[in-house]
Amino acid sequence: MSTPHPDHDDAAGIRHDDAAGADRDDAAAAPRRPDERPPTTATPFADPDAAARYADGPRRLVPGLDALHRMTGLLLAEGAPDDARILVLGAGGGLELRHLAATQPGWRFHGVDPSGPMLMAAEQHLGDLASRVRLQEGYVDDAPDGPYDGAVCLLTVHFLPEDERRRTLEELRRRLAPGRPLVVAHHSIPGGSAEREAWLGRFAAFGISSGVPAGNAEQGLRAVGTKLPVLTPEDDERLLREAGFRDVGLFYAAFTFRGWVASA
Ligand SMILES: C[S@@+](CC[C@H](N)C(=O)[O-])C[C@H]1O[C@@H](n2cnc3c(N)ncnc32)[C@H](O)[C@@H]1O
Repeated sequence: MSTPHPDHDDAAGIRHDDAAGADRDDAAAAPRRPDERPPTTATPFADPDAAARYADGPRRLVPGLDALHRMTGLLLAEGAPDDARILVLGAGGGLELRHLAATQPGWRFHGVDPSGPMLMAAEQHLGDLASRVRLQEGYVDDAPDGPYDGAVCLLTVHFLPEDERRRTLEELRRRLAPGRPLVVAHHSIPGGSAEREAWLGRFAAFGISSGVPAGNAEQGLRAVGTKLPVLTPEDDERLLREAGFRDVGLFYAAFTFRGWVASA
């Protein structure tokens, strides 16, 4: 996520690409034809320069990002063992991976993301911690079957239209051992159009208060409001349940963002 920009930005990632790509680890899945790609619209994430700058963006735009990472780790640790295998979907940039790997020395991670540049940024951000992380270029379907002891998907599923989002959540649940935790967080905006506008305005104000130029923040606000298939928190919770998750619990609410923990 970079500073909102008229062409390719995003205040939590607007443009998407359909980057096909080879796996970056041994668990390679067969390459898929472009017409087999899920209907996502991924990226400024295909732009290597934007990906290299990614780490700065979320901290300016996502209120409480560090606490979100810490809560994510604590929630996963409630339901995962000390030697857990954790699946991270939308792992590009490596921010949550770095926090989780640094705080849980016994955990190993499989990170999946369709953007090669974002995976390179993750590798760089991880530094020595990368030895416990496998990065794979692809979508959830390309990830190994697991079963995993926990799964994480941060700032990602707001890019997915409802049907694809439900399917992606189902595929995550299928890769989790029964009872193991999923943590998700993304844009999820309550209310009708007036309330929604108010929350988007607050989201832009937060960016401006973090140093994002006002014009860029306004662009980001419009992009989130018009280009992303953002759902209401009620619909997000419904999709988690429809995907087969139980014990769906809200743990994070920060202007336009919400986060949930749920059990497979
Ligand atoms: C805003 S970034 C979030 C990255 C990271 N999770 C974080 O919290 O910093 C969104 C990421 O989702 C990836 N992405 C887009 N569509 C995706 C999909 N269908 N499945 C998995 N990842 C996707 C993008 O390539 C990008 O790396």
